Amino acid sequence: MIPFISFNTQLETHSEELILAVESVIKSKWYVLGKNLTEFEKNYAKLNCTKFAVGVGSGLDALIISLKALKITKEDEVIVASNSYIASWLSITNVGATIIPVEPDPQTFNLDANKIEEKITNKTKAIMPVHLYGQPCEMDKIMGIAKKHNLYVVEDNAQSHLAKYNNQITGSFGDINATSFYPTKNIGAFGEAGCITTMNKKLSDYVIKYRNYGSSEKYFCDIIGSNSRLDELQAAILNIKLKYIEKWTLERQRLAKKYDQLLSKNYRITVPYIDPRAQHVYHLYVIKVDKRDQLQQFLKEKGIGTAIHYPIPPYLQKAYVHLGYNKGDFPITERLAETSLSLPLYPGLNTESVNYICNSINEFYKN
Ligand SMILES: Cc1ncc(COP(=O)(O)O)c(C=O)c1O
Repeated sequence: MIPFISFNTQLETHSEELILAVESVIKSKWYVLGKNLTEFEKNYAKLNCTKFAVGVGSGLDALIISLKALKITKEDEVIVASNSYIASWLSITNVGATIIPVEPDPQTFNLDANKIEEKITNKTKAIMPVHLYGQPCEMDKIMGIAKKHNLYVVEDNAQSHLAKYNNQITGSFGDINATSFYPTKNIGAFGEAGCITTMNKKLSDYVIKYRNYGSSEKYFCDIIGSNSRLDELQAAILNIKLKYIEKWTLERQRLAKKYDQLLSKNYRITVPYIDPRAQHVYHLYVIKVDKRDQLQQFLKEKGIGTAIHYPIPPYLQKAYVHLGYNKGDFPITERLAETSLSLPLYPGLNTESVNYICNSINEFYKN
């Protein structure tokens, strides 16, 4: 049995230091806004090449708070990919702004930068590039458009820790950027956690207040904030995981290369296209195939777990019926939703497993 995702190797290799870290937090009797978070924010800002990193409760909160920090409200429009994960859309709705969906590039799955300008109106306030599956969006073009039209950029970096575009790390391009440390992410907590990165002290200060009831001093409330703090247990765990993220990323890239080698010769399978300016970190390894559902069933019978990211685009979700979109409105998005299949890829997956998965896929398409 090859599961779609497994934490086994990470846990087997690092359980001792992870447990020690958890024990140390418990014994410290200090569980929120303490030294582990301060240390994590320093480490993550360094890794992400930004001046500031502020831990928050989740990736979705990180997106919402980023939009709030930019004062984006119901008068404004935000441009985002039509095929993004639902959280990107939810963040825009949560601040009351209007979502302006743009089709992805069918090769990279990312927001098509060439289709952004036609969607800009006098209400457009920001562009939200989501580096889907771990491949950066075309950040040179996106930043150029934002500059030309005086728009903010909020990167959704949840799936792309350590990815680079033209050698610059994602999460360092936008005015303010959000990421997630949901357990399955490339850097995963043992619970909920997220982070905001920025070069702008004013925005960072706003987030520091907002996440803590709008307060910078106990019992003084300056703005209407929330409770969205990255707790000490998660921060201690993340501090350990940060030590290994470069190694784990290389392993993901090595496994992806192996998949590429074994699958790319089969004309029935489209392996991930990599923009030559991008360094993909393979949060997910997503192939495009016909007969996707039959293939998934076939692999299941062979003991191979797979997943679909994402079967229903955000604009066709029940939650967004009121926006009035219909099937057929974003054909590229729908084609991707019908043909994409994510294969197992995580540190610890061995070469024999990748061989077995690829042989099984090739066997399915033999006839
Ligand atoms: C692209 C993207 N944005 C935002 C999120 C939201 O992160 P979280 O689950 O930590 O709220 C996720 C992950 O779940 C994601 O994949």
